[in-house]
Amino acid sequence: MAGQVTIGDFYSEDRTFPPPPEFRATALVKDRSMWDEANADYEAFWARQARELVTWFEDFDTVLDWQLPFAKWFVGGKLNVSYNCLDRHIEAGLGDKVAYYWEGEPGDTVVLTYRQLHAEVCKFANVLKGLGLKTGDRALIYMPMVLELPIAMLACTRIGVAHSIVFGGFSPDSIMDRCNDAEARIIITADAGYRRGVASGLKVNVDAALAQCPTVENVVVVNRCGLDVEMEPGRDHWWHELMATASTDCAAEPLDSEQLLFLLYTSGTTAKPKGIMHTTGGYLTQVAFSHKYTFDLRPESDVYWCGADIGWVTGHSYIVYGPLCNGATSVIYEGTPDTPRPEFRQGDPAAWPKDRLWDIIERYGVTQLYTAPTAIRTFMKWGEQWPAAHDLSSLRVLGTVGEPINPEAWMWYHTHIGRERCPIADTWWQTETGGHMISPWPGVTTTKPGSACGPIPGIFIELVDDEGQVVQRGGGYLTITKPWPAILRGIWGSPERYFDTYWSRFDGRYFAGDGAKLDDDGYLWLLGRVDDVMNVSGHRISTAEVESALVDHPAVAEAAVVGANDELTGQAIIGYVILRGTYQASDVLREEVRQHVAKKLGPLARPKAVILVPDLPKTRSGKIMRRLLRDVVEGRSLGDTTTLADQSVVEELRTRALDAPAED
Ligand code: PRX
Repeated sequence: MAGQVTIGDFYSEDRTFPPPPEFRATALVKDRSMWDEANADYEAFWARQARELVTWFEDFDTVLDWQLPFAKWFVGGKLNVSYNCLDRHIEAGLGDKVAYYWEGEPGDTVVLTYRQLHAEVCKFANVLKGLGLKTGDRALIYMPMVLELPIAMLACTRIGVAHSIVFGGFSPDSIMDRCNDAEARIIITADAGYRRGVASGLKVNVDAALAQCPTVENVVVVNRCGLDVEMEPGRDHWWHELMATASTDCAAEPLDSEQLLFLLYTSGTTAKPKGIMHTTGGYLTQVAFSHKYTFDLRPESDVYWCGADIGWVTGHSYIVYGPLCNGATSVIYEGTPDTPRPEFRQGDPAAWPKDRLWDIIERYGVTQLYTAPTAIRTFMKWGEQWPAAHDLSSLRVLGTVGEPINPEAWMWYHTHIGRERCPIADTWWQTETGGHMISPWPGVTTTKPGSACGPIPGIFIELVDDEGQVVQRGGGYLTITKPWPAILRGIWGSPERYFDTYWSRFDGRYFAGDGAKLDDDGYLWLLGRVDDVMNVSGHRISTAEVESALVDHPAVAEAAVVGANDELTGQAIIGYVILRGTYQASDVLREEVRQHVAKKLGPLARPKAVILVPDLPKTRSGKIMRRLLRDVVEGRSLGDTTTLADQSVVEELRTRALDAPAED
């Protein structure tokens, strides 16, 4: 099983960090009684959480209806997500509490209270209604990190419209595929968003997609950067113009617990992304629960910050729904960590100060920071002088998500950001799980750098071997043995694919696609994907998707893609390409092929290197041997190559891999 965790000097299964005594003394959870309660009767446990954390218009009558692989949670219950995230806090007298401190990349700021957020959400819900949207419809959202994004999401939830957010870094083709699969009636977007000091266009990508999105009737455009964009009369509307006349009066619809809340497309092992379905009651319960306890949340005093983009599941669950349901005060920052406020931007951007994050933590008094290992490794590269120049004493809990954290990065985070005072929650979960599944809890768990420790209460994990036998110690495939409230309800439009992808490999178990290891103390160490899914900077990209984008280029006859270990991004995309006979290999063509992938899928999927080869290693039955390709780029010995049809191919590959320059 391929492991991704870099085992370095810090790695030791015996190195432990108990919760700091001062932290533990006042922690929300100090002992394992919640685990005991959940182990004794997990349905009753989740029912208690659902009733404690969420307000129901009508109580549910059945906790769980489980017909493998289809789960229904809190059946018969009626609720509304936006009511839970807004109205009830205002009714409780918290209307003037800050929901979001928002900071734009250019340094502009907005402080939005729960009352103000509620008013904006009601207005936009009325806008949606005015455009003919109704319960059960789908809205596609393609936006930068501006406040209109959570406003649009919550407005959808208020009237039972499901949103499908497409990350702003994706291409027109990705918008088109997702839009058509979901049959979205509306696209909500912006002219552009700021990234590294530049207005990066979004509407222009929507325009390019729209020609082939027949279901879209209306487009709403936020004016973020004042760009001159094309607006098609009758179809395209400015957000501010529609909002100017919208009423702030909009009742929250009582919706079924199993009402579709959102679709979020994610990469699998095929070229076609899957529309992961999440519904209302179970999802909200688990994200509120995990947000509260993983981060030891004190809504009355904390300023919580998740640095993810709302376009990914982390942003859905831990910038929007979890924190707002819990009445938290959060920070949202629009831009990149290496873009300082404009007054500090002098000369070459490469020489700009790299302390925007630490500056924000200091100015807002951030108490929890939730970010990705890739980001931490980048901060390590930039150097500890940047955080050292700031007062980070407000921080209480640190979190990581998205990929295995190597012990070195964990220790750096602990030392230079947490200043050895803050527990670290390494949270393992997936788009499909909706919320945290494996994570230490800060007042209880003794952590080990690089280990996600164990499941949270109410979640049941087992490792199994190839035959599906349970593994008590050592490596195995990560499986989940009982349904959980925020479990995906399926893949949009493909119930069979849902079963095949997650439930067919091991009988009666959800197979996550990850490998893991259990140490002698029963701690889980996540080892990365065991399928053809890559994890680049915490983002999932399938080898098949990139391969199909590569062969889409006219010069490419055949392509094979592998994820190679990369110090900074976890994995890096390496594309092996065989050119069509009429094309001559050249650096220009190689670069063109590489950029073609970015154009088809978005810059995230651009291969770090494209290696032009005369042949690919294949088994006698014609299957590409990816393992060999990975071994070649990572410079490992090749092990058993006896199944290879043509042994000479490998030597050729080795030479080419050494020759190929790696691009940024
Ligand atoms: O391989 C695991 C990795 O990210 C995958 C899920 O990706 P995605 O659905 O995009 O969601 C990312 C944010 C939740 C998993 O199958 N992964 C996520 N968190 C961790 C992780 N791997 C190791 N440790 C983690 N904490």
